[in-house]
Amino acid sequence: MRAITVAQPGGPENLRVEERPTPSAGPGEVLIKVVAAGLNRADVMQRMGFYPPPPGASDILGLEVSGIVQHVADDVTGFAAGDLVCALLTGGGYAEYVNVPAVQVLPVPAGVAITEAAGLPEVSATVLSNLMMTAHLSPGETVLIHGGSSGIGTHAIQFAKALGATVAVTAGSDAKLDLCGELGADILINYRTQEFGEVLKDRVDVILDIIGAKYLSHNISALAVDGRLVTIGLQGGVVAEININDLLRKRGTFAATNLRGRPLDQKASIISRVREVTWPLIESGAIKPIVGQAFPLEDAAEAHRFLESADSSGKVLLTI
Ligand SMILES: NC(=O)c1ccc[n+]([C@@H]2O[C@H](COP(=O)([O-])OP(=O)(O)OC[C@H]3O[C@@H](n4cnc5c(N)ncnc54)[C@H](OP(=O)(O)O)[C@@H]3O)[C@@H](O)[C@H]2O)c1
Repeated sequence: MRAITVAQPGGPENLRVEERPTPSAGPGEVLIKVVAAGLNRADVMQRMGFYPPPPGASDILGLEVSGIVQHVADDVTGFAAGDLVCALLTGGGYAEYVNVPAVQVLPVPAGVAITEAAGLPEVSATVLSNLMMTAHLSPGETVLIHGGSSGIGTHAIQFAKALGATVAVTAGSDAKLDLCGELGADILINYRTQEFGEVLKDRVDVILDIIGAKYLSHNISALAVDGRLVTIGLQGGVVAEININDLLRKRGTFAATNLRGRPLDQKASIISRVREVTWPLIESGAIKPIVGQAFPLEDAAEAHRFLESADSSGKVLLTI
């Protein structure tokens, strides 16, 4: 099969199309003929050599796909050859076929095109696990979502609105803030011209943070009493100094999580909650997949350049 691999760590030009053996479905697994793969910021980090695949995972890039079930292992129930599915992966998505534990597979939601479904597993699992399972976002609370026009952000805005929260976002341009507003965001902050820690001082119950060190003290400033800050990205660095008393005064909680490294049982319980909570919201139209652009598999380098550019919003996909 054709797959995208990294010749050597570095820029997008290091992505290449390679012939690899087609995988087979091991115990508990499903083999998917891939229709589309979703791009994630983590793929860029892996390409650059900063985010190696966990032990045992494929070195082929790609953390989510949609496609058609080709084969299921004898011990798998609930899926059959020919089913239209999407799946959360630990790697291997930028390829014509991928094998994945059945507990990480979801049906394509009714009303969603199979190509668009490739962009759903990673964002839906990340957003639900952090906003609901870690931060316990409740109706009537205020949530701040950094990078509101990103793949994660566009889904998080809609998910939080569906939960009944007031949504504040940051983004780097007014056009991106307009998109966030169209998706339901209530408070729009341009991080290039406004200081969100001041605008939202002491007002935010939950923050979904993708910046890390650079925003840590500003995030604590924005937190309300009993607020919960969850950092899932480190685009602004990893080392920060804070006054812990600022957090203590507010009885604040600071959590940091990742999805890819979680053990199978945790991924299974997140995917099962996504199917129970998020899938009906997608099928009712309350949450729409937001696809920025799709590229053919062999143009993976171009797709990475686009994801890393200021032009990207929503999900970027590779199609096969
Ligand atoms: N821990 C986990 O389990 C997990 C899982 C999935 C994703 N993530 C993280 O979530 C983040 C989003 O992922 P993605 O794939 O959706 O990425 P993406 O579509 O490439 O988006 C990156 C976003 O970062 C925003 N950004 C850059 N600098 C910013 C700043 N100073 N303030 C606010 N926003 C800023 C960009 O906003 P502008 O374009 O407006 O500048 C853009 O929307 C990444 O950091 C990724 O690593 C973590």
